[in-house]
Amino acid sequence: MTLYQLRNLQHRYGERTVLDLSALDIAHGEIIALVGPSGSGKSTLLRLLQFLETPTQGSLLFDGILSDHALPLEARRRVVTVFQHPALLDRSVFDNVAYGLRLRGVPYGPETIMAALGRVGLRDYARVRAKTLSGGEAQRVALARALVLNPIALLLDEPTANLDPYNVGLIEEIIRGHGTTTVVLVTHNTFQAKRLADRVGLLLSGKLIELLPADRFFNAPLDPRTRSFINGEMVY
Ligand SMILES: Nc1ncnc2c1ncn2[C@@H]1O[C@H](COP(=O)(O)OP(=O)(O)OP(=O)(O)O)[C@@H](O)[C@H]1O
Ligand SMILES: [Mg+2]
Repeated sequence: MTLYQLRNLQHRYGERTVLDLSALDIAHGEIIALVGPSGSGKSTLLRLLQFLETPTQGSLLFDGILSDHALPLEARRRVVTVFQHPALLDRSVFDNVAYGLRLRGVPYGPETIMAALGRVGLRDYARVRAKTLSGGEAQRVALARALVLNPIALLLDEPTANLDPYNVGLIEEIIRGHGTTTVVLVTHNTFQAKRLADRVGLLLSGKLIELLPADRFFNAPLDPRTRSFINGEMVY
């Protein structure tokens, strides 16, 4: 089952084409990692998958529906992005996790919030002010805030950049336990892509060079540029 189907998609800022994808299918429940140099279009692609922008040209289907205004709000709301530097409210950890549910008018009890905090190992932090958290703890709160919404798709833009190994490990464990949620993970860490992803794609200058099962991507890529990127030989 295909969750996202992109065809002949181009995205431009002014005269510049920053994404040019002939075809990309993302299946329900898979973890896709996107790697590529800075400026290759990874975050732009996530913004399109989050419906924050509409492709300049071509089509983006979500669950078979064209991602324009026809897409039901309910579906839009179940795609959630977690950014590298999450913006948390100057409130308690509990309130931060509850915020998305309140915004969406979804009824919830305290146990819903506590269960989400449990998934990220922060049950004891419910009453702590979010502003006092470490970077790793804050990122885990951001993940809990996303997970509590029970997303169909979870889009992660460099979720562990600049975090210590302990928190990286915890966050990777949470991602690994994604259940039926489709995950699109942008990472500069090829080892992380190897550890987590079912399929890995390389973006270069807005083009998807190849998207292969992780094992093949790392051991037998078809394109020489993939090998050179993996080996850290690509100069950019
Ligand atoms: N709103 C915008 N207006 C104009 N150009 C933009 C805009 N957003 C992104 N770009 C350009 O599009 C290109 C792709 O940017 P994008 O942020 O998707 O790259 P990236 O792969 O996520 O890079 P990084 O690894 O540094 O985060 C860049 O050249 C960037 O300057
Ligand atoms: Mg980016």
